[in-house]
Amino acid sequence: MLITSSEIMNLKGRDIISIRELSKEEINFILDYAKKMIPYATGEKSTDILKGKILSCLFFEPSTRTRLSFETAMHRLAGRVIGFADPTMTSQKKGETLADTIRMADGYSDAIVIRHPLEGAARLAAEFADAPVINAGDGAGRHPTQCLLDLFTIKMEKNRIEDQKVVLLGDLKYGRTVHSLAYALALYGAELIFVSPKTLGMPKEVIRECKKLGVEPISTSNLEKAIRDADVLYVTRIQKERFPDPEEYNRVVGAYQINRKILEHVKEDLIIMHPLPRVTEIDPEVDSTSHAIYFKQAFNGVPVRMALLSLLVGGRI
Ligand code: NCD
Repeated sequence: MLITSSEIMNLKGRDIISIRELSKEEINFILDYAKKMIPYATGEKSTDILKGKILSCLFFEPSTRTRLSFETAMHRLAGRVIGFADPTMTSQKKGETLADTIRMADGYSDAIVIRHPLEGAARLAAEFADAPVINAGDGAGRHPTQCLLDLFTIKMEKNRIEDQKVVLLGDLKYGRTVHSLAYALALYGAELIFVSPKTLGMPKEVIRECKKLGVEPISTSNLEKAIRDADVLYVTRIQKERFPDPEEYNRVVGAYQINRKILEHVKEDLIIMHPLPRVTEIDPEVDSTSHAIYFKQAFNGVPVRMALLSLLVGGRI
Protein backbone atom coordinates (compact mmCIF):
# COMPACT_ATOMS: atom_id res chain seq x y z
CA MET A 1 0.00 0.00 0.00
CA LEU A 2 1.21 3.45 -0.84
CA ILE A 3 1.55 5.62 2.25
CA THR A 4 1.30 9.35 1.65
CA SER A 5 3.85 11.67 3.21
CA SER A 6 1.23 13.34 5.41
CA GLU A 7 0.32 9.96 6.89
CA ILE A 8 3.93 9.14 7.71
CA MET A 9 4.56 12.60 9.06
CA ASN A 10 1.76 12.88 11.51
CA LEU A 11 3.90 13.87 14.45
CA LYS A 12 1.12 15.61 16.37
CA GLY A 13 1.24 14.71 20.06
CA ARG A 14 4.46 12.68 19.75
CA ASP A 15 7.09 12.76 22.50
CA ILE A 16 10.63 13.50 21.34
CA ILE A 17 12.83 11.73 23.87
CA SER A 18 15.55 10.25 21.66
CA ILE A 19 16.47 10.77 18.01
CA ARG A 20 16.29 6.99 17.70
CA GLU A 21 12.51 7.16 17.81
CA LEU A 22 12.36 9.15 14.58
CA SER A 23 12.74 7.46 11.22
CA LYS A 24 15.02 8.87 8.56
CA GLU A 25 11.93 9.94 6.57
CA GLU A 26 10.57 11.79 9.58
CA ILE A 27 13.92 13.48 10.21
CA ASN A 28 14.15 14.53 6.55
CA PHE A 29 10.64 15.87 6.72
CA ILE A 30 11.42 17.95 9.85
CA LEU A 31 14.61 19.30 8.25
CA ASP A 32 12.80 20.29 5.04
CA TYR A 33 10.06 21.93 7.04
CA ALA A 34 12.65 23.76 9.19
CA LYS A 35 14.08 25.27 6.01
CA LYS A 36 10.68 26.78 5.25
CA MET A 37 10.66 28.24 8.76
CA ILE A 38 13.82 30.33 8.22
CA PRO A 39 12.10 33.57 7.10
CA TYR A 40 9.71 33.23 10.06
CA ALA A 41 12.64 32.56 12.40
CA THR A 42 14.42 35.73 11.30
CA GLY A 43 11.24 37.80 11.60
CA GLU A 44 11.17 38.57 7.89
CA LYS A 45 7.75 36.89 7.69
CA SER A 46 5.24 36.38 10.45
CA THR A 47 2.72 33.70 11.35
CA ASP A 48 0.30 32.97 14.17
CA ILE A 49 -0.13 29.23 13.75
CA LEU A 50 0.37 28.52 17.47
CA LYS A 51 -1.74 31.42 18.70
CA GLY A 52 -3.44 30.46 21.96
CA LYS A 53 -1.01 27.60 22.60
CA ILE A 54 1.28 27.45 25.63
CA LEU A 55 4.69 25.81 25.93
CA SER A 56 6.21 24.81 29.30
CA CYS A 57 9.99 25.17 29.45
CA LEU A 58 11.20 23.31 32.54
CA PHE A 59 14.93 23.66 32.95
CA PHE A 60 16.41 21.80 35.90
CA GLU A 61 19.92 22.42 34.52
CA PRO A 62 21.67 25.51 33.12
CA SER A 63 20.90 26.42 29.53
CA THR A 64 21.31 29.43 27.29
CA ARG A 65 20.71 28.43 23.66
CA THR A 66 18.30 25.56 24.10
CA ARG A 67 15.95 27.43 26.40
CA LEU A 68 16.12 30.75 24.59
CA SER A 69 15.72 29.21 21.15
CA PHE A 70 12.71 27.18 22.27
CA GLU A 71 11.21 30.36 23.72
CA THR A 72 12.02 32.32 20.57
CA ALA A 73 10.55 29.53 18.43
CA MET A 74 7.29 29.56 20.38
CA HIS A 75 7.06 33.38 20.30
CA ARG A 76 7.76 33.47 16.55
CA LEU A 77 4.79 31.12 16.08
CA ALA A 78 2.65 33.47 18.22
CA GLY A 79 2.44 31.01 21.12
CA ARG A 80 3.25 31.73 24.75
CA VAL A 81 5.80 30.30 27.14
CA ILE A 82 5.72 29.49 30.85
CA GLY A 83 8.36 27.75 32.92
CA PHE A 84 11.54 28.19 34.89
CA ALA A 85 15.26 28.32 34.36
CA ASP A 86 16.13 27.81 38.00
CA PRO A 87 14.48 24.86 39.76
CA THR A 88 15.52 26.14 43.19
CA MET A 89 12.73 28.71 42.83
CA THR A 90 10.07 26.00 42.39
CA SER A 91 8.29 23.52 44.66
CA GLN A 92 11.07 21.03 43.91
CA LYS A 93 12.79 22.89 46.71
CA LYS A 94 9.92 21.84 49.00
CA GLY A 95 10.31 18.23 47.96
CA GLU A 96 7.82 17.96 45.11
CA THR A 97 8.47 14.98 42.85
CA LEU A 98 9.27 15.33 39.17
CA ALA A 99 6.09 13.42 38.36
CA ASP A 100 3.94 15.96 40.19
CA THR A 101 5.70 18.93 38.60
CA ILE A 102 5.07 17.36 35.20
CA ARG A 103 1.40 16.73 35.98
CA MET A 104 1.04 20.46 36.69
CA ALA A 105 2.79 21.55 33.52
CA ASP A 106 0.67 19.08 31.58
CA GLY A 107 -2.47 20.78 32.85
CA TYR A 108 -1.15 24.26 32.11
CA SER A 109 0.29 23.83 28.63
CA ASP A 110 0.15 22.20 25.19
CA ALA A 111 3.73 20.90 25.09
CA ILE A 112 6.54 20.44 27.59
CA VAL A 113 10.26 20.95 27.10
CA ILE A 114 12.37 19.49 29.87
CA ARG A 115 16.08 19.52 30.65
CA HIS A 116 17.20 17.53 33.65
CA PRO A 117 20.53 16.31 35.10
CA LEU A 118 19.33 12.71 35.36
CA GLU A 119 19.35 10.33 32.41
CA GLY A 120 15.85 9.02 31.80
CA ALA A 121 14.10 12.04 33.37
CA ALA A 122 12.46 13.09 30.10
CA ARG A 123 11.22 9.56 29.49
CA LEU A 124 9.71 9.54 32.97
CA ALA A 125 8.13 12.94 32.35
CA ALA A 126 6.50 11.61 29.19
CA GLU A 127 4.77 8.92 31.22
CA PHE A 128 3.04 11.52 33.35
CA ALA A 129 1.99 13.93 30.61
CA ASP A 130 -0.59 13.72 27.86
CA ALA A 131 0.96 16.71 26.13
CA PRO A 132 4.02 16.02 23.96
CA VAL A 133 7.27 16.02 25.94
CA ILE A 134 10.51 17.14 24.32
CA ASN A 135 13.81 16.09 25.84
CA ALA A 136 16.10 19.12 25.93
CA GLY A 137 18.94 17.08 27.45
CA ASP A 138 18.88 14.42 30.16
CA GLY A 139 22.21 14.15 31.95
CA ALA A 140 24.81 12.46 29.78
CA GLY A 141 21.99 10.73 27.87
CA ARG A 142 20.35 12.29 24.83
CA HIS A 143 19.71 15.65 23.19
CA PRO A 144 17.46 15.01 20.20
CA THR A 145 16.62 18.60 19.25
CA GLN A 146 20.29 19.58 19.26
CA CYS A 147 20.80 16.59 17.00
CA LEU A 148 18.14 17.83 14.58
CA LEU A 149 19.69 21.28 14.41
CA ASP A 150 23.14 19.74 13.93
CA LEU A 151 21.86 17.64 11.02
CA PHE A 152 20.05 20.69 9.64
CA THR A 153 23.28 22.70 9.77
CA ILE A 154 25.26 20.03 7.92
CA LYS A 155 22.53 19.78 5.29
CA MET A 156 22.37 23.55 4.82
CA GLU A 157 26.14 23.93 4.59
CA LYS A 158 27.00 20.79 2.63
CA ASN A 159 23.74 20.01 0.84
CA ARG A 160 23.88 16.43 2.00
CA ILE A 161 24.62 14.37 5.09
CA GLU A 162 25.40 11.10 3.28
CA ASP A 163 29.10 10.36 2.68
CA GLN A 164 30.36 13.29 4.72
CA LYS A 165 33.49 12.59 6.67
CA VAL A 166 32.70 13.79 10.18
CA VAL A 167 35.12 14.05 13.08
CA LEU A 168 33.53 14.14 16.54
CA LEU A 169 36.06 15.62 18.93
CA GLY A 170 36.19 15.95 22.69
CA ASP A 171 34.25 14.52 25.59
CA LEU A 172 32.46 11.71 23.79
CA LYS A 173 31.80 9.89 27.05
CA TYR A 174 29.64 12.45 28.84
CA GLY A 175 28.56 14.61 25.87
CA ARG A 176 24.91 13.93 25.16
CA THR A 177 24.94 15.85 21.88
CA VAL A 178 27.44 13.45 20.33
CA HIS A 179 25.55 10.40 21.59
CA SER A 180 22.55 11.53 19.57
CA LEU A 181 24.54 12.84 16.61
CA ALA A 182 26.75 9.77 16.09
CA TYR A 183 23.68 7.58 15.80
CA ALA A 184 21.92 9.97 13.41
CA LEU A 185 24.98 10.40 11.19
CA ALA A 186 25.28 6.63 10.97
CA LEU A 187 21.65 6.50 9.92
CA TYR A 188 22.64 8.67 6.94
CA GLY A 189 25.73 6.63 6.20
CA ALA A 190 28.26 9.34 7.06
CA GLU A 191 31.87 8.39 7.75
CA LEU A 192 32.60 8.72 11.47
CA ILE A 193 35.86 9.43 13.25
CA PHE A 194 35.94 9.75 17.02
CA VAL A 195 38.78 11.71 18.62
CA SER A 196 38.92 12.03 22.38
CA PRO A 197 41.18 11.77 25.39
CA LYS A 198 41.55 8.06 26.20
CA THR A 199 39.27 8.17 29.23
CA LEU A 200 36.51 10.07 27.41
CA GLY A 201 35.79 7.73 24.51
CA MET A 202 32.42 7.13 22.89
CA PRO A 203 30.28 4.66 24.91
CA LYS A 204 30.34 1.13 23.50
CA GLU A 205 26.56 1.14 23.19
CA VAL A 206 26.67 4.07 20.72
CA ILE A 207 29.46 2.42 18.71
CA ARG A 208 27.37 -0.76 18.55
CA GLU A 209 24.38 1.19 17.25
CA CYS A 210 26.51 2.78 14.50
CA LYS A 211 27.80 -0.62 13.45
CA LYS A 212 24.29 -2.00 13.34
CA LEU A 213 23.50 0.75 10.86
CA GLY A 214 26.44 -0.36 8.74
CA VAL A 215 28.95 2.33 9.76
CA GLU A 216 32.32 1.38 11.30
CA PRO A 217 33.48 4.39 13.31
CA ILE A 218 37.23 4.89 13.65
CA SER A 219 38.52 5.90 17.07
CA THR A 220 41.86 7.69 17.20
CA SER A 221 43.83 10.15 19.27
CA ASN A 222 45.59 11.63 16.23
CA LEU A 223 43.56 14.80 15.77
CA GLU A 224 45.71 16.41 13.05
CA LYS A 225 45.53 13.34 10.86
CA ALA A 226 41.82 12.87 11.48
CA ILE A 227 40.87 16.38 10.39
CA ARG A 228 43.16 16.52 7.35
CA ASP A 229 40.52 15.40 4.87
CA ALA A 230 37.39 15.83 7.03
CA ASP A 231 34.29 17.67 5.80
CA VAL A 232 32.89 18.39 9.26
CA LEU A 233 34.64 18.85 12.59
CA TYR A 234 32.23 18.74 15.54
CA VAL A 235 33.93 19.96 18.70
CA THR A 236 32.58 19.46 22.21
CA ARG A 237 33.36 20.83 25.64
CA ILE A 238 34.63 18.62 28.44
CA GLN A 239 31.48 18.12 30.53
CA LYS A 240 33.02 19.10 33.84
CA GLU A 241 29.73 18.84 35.74
CA ARG A 242 29.34 15.14 34.89
CA PHE A 243 32.66 13.93 36.32
CA PRO A 244 32.11 11.92 39.49
CA ASP A 245 35.75 12.53 40.44
CA PRO A 246 37.31 16.03 40.09
CA GLU A 247 40.72 14.36 39.73
CA GLU A 248 39.51 12.64 36.58
CA TYR A 249 38.56 16.06 35.21
CA ASN A 250 41.89 17.63 36.16
CA ARG A 251 43.70 14.97 34.15
CA VAL A 252 41.92 15.86 30.89
CA VAL A 253 41.26 19.59 31.15
CA GLY A 254 42.87 21.43 28.24
CA ALA A 255 43.68 18.15 26.44
CA TYR A 256 42.76 19.51 23.00
CA GLN A 257 42.25 22.83 21.28
CA ILE A 258 41.33 23.91 17.77
CA ASN A 259 43.35 26.93 16.71
CA ARG A 260 44.53 28.48 13.46
CA LYS A 261 47.76 26.51 13.49
CA ILE A 262 46.03 23.13 13.57
CA LEU A 263 43.76 24.24 10.73
CA GLU A 264 46.65 24.91 8.35
CA HIS A 265 46.29 21.58 6.58
CA VAL A 266 42.52 21.05 6.52
CA LYS A 267 40.21 21.15 3.52
CA GLU A 268 39.19 24.64 2.49
CA ASP A 269 35.52 23.82 2.92
CA LEU A 270 35.82 22.08 6.29
CA ILE A 271 33.07 23.31 8.58
CA ILE A 272 33.65 23.52 12.32
CA MET A 273 30.61 22.98 14.51
CA HIS A 274 30.12 23.14 18.28
CA PRO A 275 26.87 22.84 20.26
CA LEU A 276 28.24 25.58 22.56
CA PRO A 277 29.04 26.74 25.17
CA ARG A 278 32.72 26.56 24.31
CA VAL A 279 35.32 27.01 26.97
CA THR A 280 38.89 26.60 25.72
CA GLU A 281 38.47 23.92 23.05
CA ILE A 282 38.13 26.41 20.20
CA ASP A 283 40.44 29.41 20.28
CA PRO A 284 38.41 32.59 19.54
CA GLU A 285 40.92 33.32 16.74
CA VAL A 286 39.10 30.59 14.77
CA ASP A 287 35.81 32.53 14.88
CA SER A 288 36.76 34.75 11.96
CA THR A 289 37.82 31.89 9.67
CA SER A 290 35.43 30.60 7.01
CA HIS A 291 35.42 27.23 8.78
CA ALA A 292 33.61 28.51 11.86
CA ILE A 293 29.86 28.04 11.64
CA TYR A 294 28.98 27.44 15.29
CA PHE A 295 27.10 30.71 15.74
CA LYS A 296 25.05 30.05 12.62
CA GLN A 297 24.46 26.56 14.00
CA ALA A 298 23.13 28.09 17.22
CA PHE A 299 20.71 30.26 15.23
CA ASN A 300 19.50 27.15 13.39
CA GLY A 301 18.02 26.01 16.68
CA VAL A 302 15.19 28.49 16.10
CA PRO A 303 13.79 27.28 12.72
CA VAL A 304 14.33 23.65 13.69
CA ARG A 305 12.48 24.05 16.99
CA MET A 306 9.77 26.07 15.26
CA ALA A 307 9.26 23.19 12.83
CA LEU A 308 9.13 20.68 15.64
CA LEU A 309 6.72 22.68 17.80
CA SER A 310 4.47 23.30 14.86
CA LEU A 311 4.34 19.59 14.02
CA LEU A 312 3.89 18.34 17.59
CA VAL A 313 1.34 20.91 18.73
CA GLY A 314 -0.47 21.18 15.41
CA GLY A 315 -0.75 24.06 12.97
CA ARG A 316 1.27 24.23 9.78
CA ILE A 317 2.59 27.10 7.72
C1 NCD B 1 25.04 21.21 25.06
C2 NCD B 1 24.29 20.48 26.15
O1 NCD B 1 23.63 21.11 26.99
O2 NCD B 1 24.36 19.27 26.12
N1 NCD B 1 24.63 22.55 24.91
C3 NCD B 1 23.53 22.83 24.16
O3 NCD B 1 22.45 22.33 24.39
N2 NCD B 1 23.69 23.66 23.13
C4 NCD B 1 26.51 21.04 25.12
C5 NCD B 1 27.25 21.39 26.37
O4 NCD B 1 26.69 21.82 27.39
O5 NCD B 1 28.48 21.27 26.33
